[in-house]
Amino acid sequence: MKRNILIIVALVLVIVIGSIGIYSFTKEEEGDEKVDQDIINNLQNKTGKRVFNFETRTVTLNSGYEMPLNGIGTYSLTKETCYNSIMSALESGVRLIDTAYMYSNEEEIGRAIRDSGVPREEIFIITKIYPSQFDDPESAIEMALEKLDVDYIDMMLLHHPGNNDVEAYKAMEKYVESGKIHSIGLSNWYVEELEEFLPQITIMPALVQNEIHPYYQENDVVPYIQDLGIVMQGWYPFGGRGHTSELLNDETIVQIANNHNVSSAQVILRWNLQKGVVVIPGSSNPSHIKENTEIYHFELTSEEMEQINSLDRNEKHDWY
Ligand SMILES: NC(=O)c1ccc[n+]([C@@H]2O[C@H](COP(=O)([O-])OP(=O)(O)OC[C@H]3O[C@@H](n4cnc5c(N)ncnc54)[C@H](OP(=O)(O)O)[C@@H]3O)[C@@H](O)[C@H]2O)c1
Repeated sequence: MKRNILIIVALVLVIVIGSIGIYSFTKEEEGDEKVDQDIINNLQNKTGKRVFNFETRTVTLNSGYEMPLNGIGTYSLTKETCYNSIMSALESGVRLIDTAYMYSNEEEIGRAIRDSGVPREEIFIITKIYPSQFDDPESAIEMALEKLDVDYIDMMLLHHPGNNDVEAYKAMEKYVESGKIHSIGLSNWYVEELEEFLPQITIMPALVQNEIHPYYQENDVVPYIQDLGIVMQGWYPFGGRGHTSELLNDETIVQIANNHNVSSAQVILRWNLQKGVVVIPGSSNPSHIKENTEIYHFELTSEEMEQINSLDRNEKHDWY
């Protein structure tokens, strides 16, 4: 009898200990799976090619913030011309504004944003620090916040490579931690410059802004940058002032524009978007500003994309 009781107790113990073992093993496995999935999600979030959402007309950056796919560039727009252009742009639904310390128009942009009545959080502001400011980047960032008169900057870029650019970038990283800058990136950085720069910083740039138009396509640089999970943005989409006429009257582009009953400008902007490049055309003409937003109702065929791709001449329209 005693022996039977001992056998039953031993059996119960074996069953209880076994169950605990199986339970914790399963839990561990579940835990591991979760960790693995987190790592994968994280890696994809950080390095996967960013996908343009043509429904919302935005892209989610590797910083987690959403940025519009089209905006307005403000180089050479100053004083009231700048103010009026921003008012027009916001009225036409533009929600991305590109400026820079060097453009001397951050105050007018801030004023137009406030006067427009469009809620600040609906607008994505990009500004840039110039190399002459890299020695004291904190003051440069504070000055931009003050001139724009905003609590935070959506995206701050280093305008060009230069002395102390790593230190300037690290200062921007600190402002990301404090929430005064949401996302950071670079402008006029190419493959070689990126290869040297990236290992020295902590936060992967969310954006690189470089010259891109049908005569200067950067077909080697764009995929390299996009594969790093960085969004590419193009400046001088129409070739820049002094070059727009040749590009907008290019036979191939005019023909494609006729196919879709749109303008050459709209074809160029659409070609950029279909290549995964965000556009910031500059304009002070309200009808051009509006026209430049109407780029979502048509799609270029792969043949048309190829035709424009074949216009590349590696012809840079500025020195940087
Ligand atoms: N990171 C950098 O180093 C860098 C360098 C240069 C530029 N950027 C940025 O990139 C932005 C774009 O460059 P950008 O403004 O110099 O040159 P752009 O956009 O290539 O061309 C601007 C010119 O195109 C004309 N235009 C605009 N829309 C048009 C349309 N629908 N039809 C016909 N003409 C049109 C404008 O004239 P109207 O005013 O008459 O419309 C203006 O003369 C700049 O504003 C700036 O924000 C950055």
